[in-house]
Amino acid sequence: MENKINILFVCLGNICRSPVAEGSFRHIVNQRGIGNYFYIDSAGTSSFHAGEPPNIHARQVAKKYGIILEGFSRGFQKSDFEKFQYIFAMDHNNHFDILAQTENEDHKKKVALFRQFDPTVQQSDKIPDVPDPYYGGVDGFDTVQNIALRTSENLLNWLISRHKIFGEMQS
Ligand code: 4NP
Repeated sequence: MENKINILFVCLGNICRSPVAEGSFRHIVNQRGIGNYFYIDSAGTSSFHAGEPPNIHARQVAKKYGIILEGFSRGFQKSDFEKFQYIFAMDHNNHFDILAQTENEDHKKKVALFRQFDPTVQQSDKIPDVPDPYYGGVDGFDTVQNIALRTSENLLNWLISRHKIFGEMQS
């Protein structure tokens, strides 16, 4: 994780939305040949599903886009504030629950809502949640996958412009 940009995606259960965001972001950086610059992970504000793989529908939808969802659910830990430079919450509840665990300004500065980077969201709009697909039908997972891909793409562009290590890659 040394010298990498460390990014954590967080939802409630870490079996639906945050694994999709993690897998989508990883897919995009790998496609652009810059995967080695990143350490990417996901977690849940709850540990209800700790140890479980991503939801089967999330995996099936991701596979249609050539994305393999990896890893097993784990709970968010305070040590994540030290390990990660960026912590992206999938919804406002996750955002609130993460902020409640911050201990200083440095921790707070790392936390943002994922859809702040959704290119379809107007600056004047309230930042929307990534809708929780857990209790709905399979369509909800398609919606999450689409949000995750377009938001990850835009987030990566923002990171590229922010981090000087990419200077040589933009020419
Ligand atoms: P996720 O979805 O936060 O996107 O992983 C959920 C997973 C599990 C539960 C709720 C949401 N649950 O209540 O168990």
